[in-house]
Amino acid sequence: MLSTLSFLEQAIEKRKQEKVLRQLPAAKNGIDFYSNDYLGFSTESGLTEIVVNEIIQQPDLLKGATGSRLISGNSDRTMQVESFLAHKHQVQSALLFPSGYTANTAFFSSVPQRGDTILMDECIHRSVRDGVRLSDAHKIKFRHNDMQHLEELLKRSRGNCFIAVESLYSMDGDFAPLHALTLIAKRYNANLVVDEAHAFGIFGYGLVSQKKLQHRVFATMITYGKALGLHGAAILGTELLISFLINFSSAFIYTTGSSDLYAISIQKGYEFLKENPERIQDLQNNILLLRNSGLPFSSASESPIQILRGTTISCVKNLQQQLEKEGFLTFAALAPTVKKGEERLRICLHSYNSSDEINQLSDLIKKHL
Ligand SMILES: Cc1ncc(COP(=O)(O)O)c(C=O)c1O
Repeated sequence: MLSTLSFLEQAIEKRKQEKVLRQLPAAKNGIDFYSNDYLGFSTESGLTEIVVNEIIQQPDLLKGATGSRLISGNSDRTMQVESFLAHKHQVQSALLFPSGYTANTAFFSSVPQRGDTILMDECIHRSVRDGVRLSDAHKIKFRHNDMQHLEELLKRSRGNCFIAVESLYSMDGDFAPLHALTLIAKRYNANLVVDEAHAFGIFGYGLVSQKKLQHRVFATMITYGKALGLHGAAILGTELLISFLINFSSAFIYTTGSSDLYAISIQKGYEFLKENPERIQDLQNNILLLRNSGLPFSSASESPIQILRGTTISCVKNLQQQLEKEGFLTFAALAPTVKKGEERLRICLHSYNSSDEINQLSDLIKKHL
């Protein structure tokens, strides 16, 4: 048997040999085509000043929560923001989490029970997969966005069924067929769970709310680290679901609550979003401009995430490195972030990218492809 030390060394060595070793990058200078700050709420002035002003007026926002929310760490402010969120999304209840990763693991590790079945899209985010691993339910993947495959699996599934999807897929830039999913979920009496990490803010308050599907979705997960440029997440659903999470979800119970700053910033973020609709329009114009470049993107035409599939790891890496040398920051998505053999270049568009930057980026890609 390998000692732990040898195991660690071998695992790192293997990554080095396969040229997929992950390392924390130093802060990069360049034109941003890789962050999730789609609307510039973090990068550009506006929301930050509003939050700073709140802190100056109420410095106790910065205080630590002092305990689990079930002991000393709850606050009226945080609960008021949760009511605000439920109202905005037109659902019965909302519960805040420190991140989308925690929200997904909290849900999937506690709600599906032994004897139940979780059917997840094969492209679902790792935070859902990790939550699912902590569950005793039976787990199956269905082919990406393949409703026929999902139905075949549902026919054979046991117990209560959960269908896990992302409304906008983070590494593919395509949408889940939400209407079809709600119909299938209804037909098979399954519970649909939608992760809206990348759709929130760009498509209203997310596609579930934009398409008015709240009553057909069992739970929705929203993150605030992307279009809102902040941090944190919320699970939206019925009062019963939220009460269950408060009672049974270890990831919610056995951790210190967040300071009120997180909750207040999120509320300010919603207000800022409402007051700045032009940023969404700027983003959509930029998406259209890149899509008109003629490059063979595999993503949906309105998606802020645009994907170029490469032939090999080195081809994707070389392209990303070439672009970086010329001042354009993109992301090479390599295995295990995506399936081996499906490596790709991910370009994230923002409201603040200029037309010149987008045209230069597409010209450079054409030159290096
Ligand atoms: C689809 C999806 N879900 C959940 C998460 C996790 O959210 P957070 O970054 O808030 O932990 C991410 C972040 O990468 C994501 O892309």
